[in-house]
Amino acid sequence: VESVIVAIDGPAGTGKSSTSKAVAAQLGLSYLDTGAQYRAITWWMISNGVDVSDPAAIATAAGKPSIVSGTDPAGPTITVDGMDASGPIRTQEVSSKVSAVSAVPEVRTLITELQRSIAATAATGIVVEGRDIGTTVLPDADLKIFLTASPEARAARRSGELKGADVAATREALIKRDAADSSRKTSPLAKADDAVEVDTTELTLQQVIECVVTLVEERR
Ligand code: C5P
Repeated sequence: VESVIVAIDGPAGTGKSSTSKAVAAQLGLSYLDTGAQYRAITWWMISNGVDVSDPAAIATAAGKPSIVSGTDPAGPTITVDGMDASGPIRTQEVSSKVSAVSAVPEVRTLITELQRSIAATAATGIVVEGRDIGTTVLPDADLKIFLTASPEARAARRSGELKGADVAATREALIKRDAADSSRKTSPLAKADDAVEVDTTELTLQQVIECVVTLVEERR
């Protein structure tokens, strides 16, 4: 069996991570969370006093941190300069600043190169989740999925993950982040022309996983 590349894109709270991890585990593929990489570089910038409202300052600092992603779907890891960053990258502060950092072209160029080299070395194949994987990072992916869900469903899922965070506030924050990610100049959040769109609003996680696994098997 040849190696298979699966790109899973979509806005926040559509179930990308849960789906991607489960599909990768089920099919024996590697897994890459590209949002975690943008969060990691954002966390490094905040921790090192870089003014994240200044794109020039972000561009200058972009190459400084060393970001390493583990690709085991059972326990993906991310380190920044050798430090485990999996906890700190999930704070609200990072979530509110990551769109500004990820919009800077120098940041995208560096992270995109990293993503392509990880995908190229995955032996059996890889599931890569993000915003621009099917359009920009891996345009030749064997399967492209674009996950969507209503803003209400996305906010409810996210506040569940954040253990009781206010649903209305979470909804506003998600809408703001998606608007920023969709409107930036360099590789915005977008559905590739040849992506399969899956609306997860009325589906259980298990149904979404089965749907994607079936689509991968059809293309193998
Ligand atoms: O997937 P997650 O919500 O963790 O992504 C965090 C942020 O990283 C997104 O809101 C977006 O700004 C950025 N991102 C991106 N391109 C990707 C993945 C994530 O710009 N491929």
